[in-house]
Amino acid sequence: DGFPATKLFTQGYSYTYDDVIFLPHYIDFPTDSVHLGTKLTRNITLSTPCVSSPMDTVTEASMAVSIAAVGGIGIIHSNNTVAEQAAFVRSVKSHRMPVFSNDFVLVLENDAILSGGLFDDNKFVFVSSNGRNVVGFVERGKWEGLGDKGVKVSEYMVRKDVTFSSLSSFEDVVSCLDEKDLEFVALVNEEGEVVNVVGREDVERVKGCPKIGSGSVDKKGRFLVGASIGTRDSDKERLRELVKAGVDVVVIDSSQGNSIYQIEMIKFAKREFPDLDVIGGNVVTMSQAQNLIKSGVDGLRVGMGSGSICTTQEVCAVGRGQATAVYKVSSIAAKSGIPIIADGGISNSGHIVKALTLGASTVMMGSFLAGSTEAPGAYVYQNGQKVKKYRGMGSLEAMMKGSDARYLGDKEKMKIAQGVVGAVKDKGSVLKFIPYTMQAVKQGFQDLGASSLQSAHDLLRSGILRLEVRTGAAQVEGGVHGLVSYEKKSF
Ligand code: XMP
Repeated sequence: DGFPATKLFTQGYSYTYDDVIFLPHYIDFPTDSVHLGTKLTRNITLSTPCVSSPMDTVTEASMAVSIAAVGGIGIIHSNNTVAEQAAFVRSVKSHRMPVFSNDFVLVLENDAILSGGLFDDNKFVFVSSNGRNVVGFVERGKWEGLGDKGVKVSEYMVRKDVTFSSLSSFEDVVSCLDEKDLEFVALVNEEGEVVNVVGREDVERVKGCPKIGSGSVDKKGRFLVGASIGTRDSDKERLRELVKAGVDVVVIDSSQGNSIYQIEMIKFAKREFPDLDVIGGNVVTMSQAQNLIKSGVDGLRVGMGSGSICTTQEVCAVGRGQATAVYKVSSIAAKSGIPIIADGGISNSGHIVKALTLGASTVMMGSFLAGSTEAPGAYVYQNGQKVKKYRGMGSLEAMMKGSDARYLGDKEKMKIAQGVVGAVKDKGSVLKFIPYTMQAVKQGFQDLGASSLQSAHDLLRSGILRLEVRTGAAQVEGGVHGLVSYEKKSF
């Protein structure tokens, strides 16, 4: 009944997730015993197989903190200066709870003048006598605009100790708010600098989210975080600064990773920082993968032209259907113990089940996460819908800011876009929809009779798990059809 993967993927067709469907197998365990723990790279383990894409409308510090809190990992994009990217990494490493705030500023007590402008971007003004330790604060909500005349901050501030160690756990922060009867705490690092502000609303929001597994943390209990780099000479300096900032893994970000530039960068990174895991890519064929594996990568990113904002296949005529790419690359990478990341084309939990069963160890997502509260940028209303901007890193707009290195563009020459700029719907917090999505993934695994990623891979490779190609009509049948209208709500 059905086809084993070895047969299905050797017919000369390029299949993507929607083309194929698994046949159900045998269930002898409950959904909750499905274990989604996995490897991002040779040395990095995650409890949730989710990675946020290094795109400037997807992963900065807020996304990285929250996705690590639910057991995945965020890869900070590099469409910025080295200092900005390193600051995002430092910021993630200074967090221990899934709350991220950066709308505060520190001013000096003696000479600072309060004016309305200070509150344009900041909810809190913290006051210090020495540039570090906080002695008081002014809150935007309590600020009765004094026009541009301004008053000395020392006359207006509340003198109260609202600081608490940034090394504290979520539970400790909650107790601190209660014990000191505060509306918020300013979390300070060992140097006394404010790194985060946690309010009662944040606490309620986090408490209201389903709890899944443990967060992704390093040996010191700090969130794991990755960052992308390019393959230019200047990226060597970027890499050094990221390592200084405490990055846990780097992703070499190229749309076609099988290049001399990437191989040299992998070798450089492994030579300079033998303890740092390096993810190479992107690749879609076995021979591309083989080359990068030989060069010493610890993980591989798979996908070319499968992303929702990609036009690479149209513009350059190269790429591969994502289901075939994931299956082919993972079959070679598994032999060397290299985990693969299925990158792009994920728009529902079924796609995640397919990617992970076909051999991926994690999925990397852009559009799936870009509408969340944690993605960079503000929501706007478009045709009555609340949306956030989402753009390809090969779009003209992103390349104008500097991301052309990923597409081997040259600053001096003509730029050709390989991506588009668009918008995605508001999805709320990743703290909520990732746990729900993972529950759906577990149900898919249960239907397949696979209680873990490893068992899914084994069932597929041994030919026990069977699949088929869906015709166009079968795909229509597999989606909602025949209704005049309906509301799509998954949880
Ligand atoms: P999804 O489908 O999750 O895809 O939105 C995210 C992935 O798409 C890749 N990416 C691009 N590919 N042109 C491309 O051909 C682009 O402008 C572009 N921007 C991102 C990238 O691999 C990302 O993780």
